This record gives sequence, C-alpha cells and structure tokens, in this order.
Amino acid sequence: MPGKGIAMRRQLHLNLFIHSRGHHEAAWRHPATSPLALTDIRYYQDLAQRAEAARFDSIFFADQLALAEDVGQAARAWLEPVTLLAALAVSTRHIGLIATASTTYTEPFNLARQFATIDHISNGRAAWNIVTSWLATAARNFGGAAQLSHADRYARGEEVMAVVKALWDSWAEDAVVDDRAAGRYARPERIRPINHRGDFYCVAGPLNLPRCPQGRPVLVQAGSSDTGRRFAARHAEAVFTAHLEKQSARRFYGELKALAAAEGRNPDHVLVLPGLSAMIAASESEAQRLVREVNALTDVEVGRRRLSNRFGGHDFSHLPLDRPLSPDDFPDPGSVEAARSRTEVILNLVRRDRPTLRQLLGYPAGARGHYVTAGTPEQIADLIQDWFDDGAADGFNIMPPLLPNQLDVFSTEVIPLLQRRGLFRTDYQGPTLRDHYGLPRPASGFDAA
Ligand SMILES: Cc1cc2nc3c(=O)[nH]c(=O)nc-3n(C[C@H](O)[C@H](O)[C@H](O)COP(=O)(O)O)c2cc1C
Repeated sequence: MPGKGIAMRRQLHLNLFIHSRGHHEAAWRHPATSPLALTDIRYYQDLAQRAEAARFDSIFFADQLALAEDVGQAARAWLEPVTLLAALAVSTRHIGLIATASTTYTEPFNLARQFATIDHISNGRAAWNIVTSWLATAARNFGGAAQLSHADRYARGEEVMAVVKALWDSWAEDAVVDDRAAGRYARPERIRPINHRGDFYCVAGPLNLPRCPQGRPVLVQAGSSDTGRRFAARHAEAVFTAHLEKQSARRFYGELKALAAAEGRNPDHVLVLPGLSAMIAASESEAQRLVREVNALTDVEVGRRRLSNRFGGHDFSHLPLDRPLSPDDFPDPGSVEAARSRTEVILNLVRRDRPTLRQLLGYPAGARGHYVTAGTPEQIADLIQDWFDDGAADGFNIMPPLLPNQLDVFSTEVIPLLQRRGLFRTDYQGPTLRDHYGLPRPASGFDAA
C-alpha cells in the first residue's frame, strides 16, 4: 500500500481461468501437467490455493451442457462448476469464486438460490458467469427441441436476470433476527414475494434464503455480439472477452463502457478482462520451443470439429489442411446462432493473415480465439501493462496453456514484476470479491420499492 498522500495507482484485476489441464488443446497429454484426474477435487483445490497465494482476484470455471463428440481424443470431462465452488469455498479464504450457469437451461429460482448459497458459504466471494449456452447440442439434453435462436436466448436471459435479482432482493438486510429466547427467527414484514409473471417464467418468491454477504453475488458475462454487449452493459460487473489484437480490445472496451454509461451505470463498475494465454520461459526461444512441443501433441481433426462447433455445426471436412484460407470458406457470422462474436474473431484473423487450415487450427488450439503469446516474464508484464495503460483492459483472464506449471511461472515470475510496478496488489484489502474488484455492494432495494 503506497505511503500517506501518494495516490494509489489504478490496480489490475487478474482472474485465473481454470480449464482442463491447461488451455492449450493438447495440454491434457503434456507430461508437465498435473497427474491428478480431472474429476479429483484435490486438483482444483490445489490450483485455487496456488492462485490465492499469488493474490489473484478470482478463479473461474466455464461450463457446457453437453458432452463434446471428440471426447475420444480430448479431455472433455469436468466437475459441475457450482457444486465445485462449494468445495473450493471451504478450502480457500480470500479468492473470488466464479462459476458458469445457463439462463437458457436453468430455472431462475434455482440459480438465485445456488449462487446466494455459495456466497454465504464463502463469506461473500461468489460470482456467476451468465451464459445463454451457444452450444447447439445442449438443446438435446433439455427437451430435445432445436436450439433457441441467438435473439430468443438473450430475450429469455433478460427475464431470468429480472427474476434472479428480485429474488436476491426479496429479503431486507435486517430480516433475520434469530431471537431464540423470543422464538422469533425473522421479521416476515421484511421478506416479500416477487410475484413475477413474464413471457417465460412465473415466479412467486420470496427466495428461501436470507440476503447474502455481498448483497448479490457478482455478475460476470462474456457475450461480445451487439446483443451480448447490451446485455453486459445492463447486468455485468465483470466482462470476459476474446481479442487477438489490442486495437479490437480497445474498441470493445470503449464501446462497452459507453453502453454502460448510457444505461446510467458507473463504467468503473463494469470491468473488462480480455483473455490472455501466455507460454512463459526464461528466454523467448525457450517459450517458443515449449509451444512447438505442445502443438506437436494436437490432433487436427479435433481442431476441425471444434471449429465446426463454433460455426454452429458448419462442415469444414472438405477443406485441405495446407491451402491458404479465404473468408469464402466460412459461413456468414450473422447466420451463426452459436457464439456469434467468436466467429467474427476467427474470420478477422482469416481476412488479416490468410492462414492455412492447419495454421488456423493452431490458433484456437492455443486458447480458442483468445490472445495467445510466448515470451519472457518481462515481455508478458510489458504486454499486460501496455493493454492496461492504453485503455484495452481493466485486467486479464489468465489462461495458462499448461496447468499448474505455467500458472506457477506466471505467479512467481510475472506477478512480482507487476507488483514492483505498483500495478497489482501485494495483499487482499477486504474479505469479499466485491472488495477485490472495487465494486459497490448493491442496496437491497427492499425499502426503495
Ligand atoms: C472467457 C469466456 C468464457 C466463456 N465461458 C462460457 C461458458 O462457460 N459457457 C458458455 O456456454 N459460453 C461461454 N462463453 C461464451 C459466451 O458466453 C458467449 O456465448 C459468446 O461469447 C458469444 O456471445 P455472443 O453470441 O453474444 O457473441 C465464454 C466466452 C468467453 C470470452
């Protein structure tokens, strides 16, 4: 903490995105990654404790609601994120805990209850990554009807947000008295139904759980299409995003902050965290060698199927691996009902670099369209400071290509550099995730109504 009178420099926010044995597609096969099974809770407890020791703001778990077809060649199994957070909440003390859950395939009453419960268990460290579930095959596990359109998914998502927020606010701060002698547990007049009747949901409420320590768990989102940005501007307090270059990240940053301001929100309370997947070593050549070593373990047919998924199942099987690609080889992103913005990221890359399919598959192999790089700790610290100082990020979604070793290198080599530059905390300042992110505690609105 700087001395009296020295203005605190704007602080970076770092989230650890925990995925498989690392974000490189072939990380699960690499001998340097953890020997523990991906269903072994000790694997995640260990990573959470390492991230907490390094003073990360939070850890994050993504989720999909269907098994990927390429499970034969790729590690596609993981623990359900909300349940996982409950276990990590009792094996950590400070770090924020972010789980993904779907607005399309989860009842809002259950969502409100699960995340408020994690916030109580963790004493105020819970956050929800709100997704509408772009994966087309997920629809098969929820009634089997065709996937909802991009627009319908977001429309349903809007109503879910209204219900969940009203449920979280259905208990006043002082509703619980817990007076054993008098036999009074709560003030019924300080708990109210929400009586929601909408296009998709009918929810009476109240929630059957007192108001949680943070008031409301922190809301995270990662949609980047026009619809996705407007949704984020209305609801998100932290936004994950994927960019392959600083300029597009700067544009996204500026637009999202402006949209939030237009919604009457303080833009500082909508943090923008681009994804960064860095292979780090003592020299750039050694880092590059590590990248080649992992790339050599990839299976291009896994990559081809993953690309197809991103484009809503489009068939790329006819494309030769070593001929330069053109935008004509791809469907129009506007017609894609899956992850629309990610298809735009990939197409911009094709327009810019005209890679072969083999080369293109090498990019997402790194981190699925997020920024991928390889270099020394100084180079990574410089890159982070450059985007941070140049209005492209409030922090980063750190995506180590290999876990845990590249998390350890980042924690022991890059974070100390950022701390010495006064850019990152040396210790947690408060108990809750809202304290870490510098976010206000939302008023219950109970008395406002
Ligand atoms: C860092 C990051 C994490 C994401 N995690 C998930 C996830 O766990 N589950 C999911 O269905 N979508 C996930 N997404 C996808 C987004 O929720 C969203 O569907 C995608 O960015 C496309 O949004 P758009 O259709 O608004 O462009 C993630 C995106 C990013 C950038």
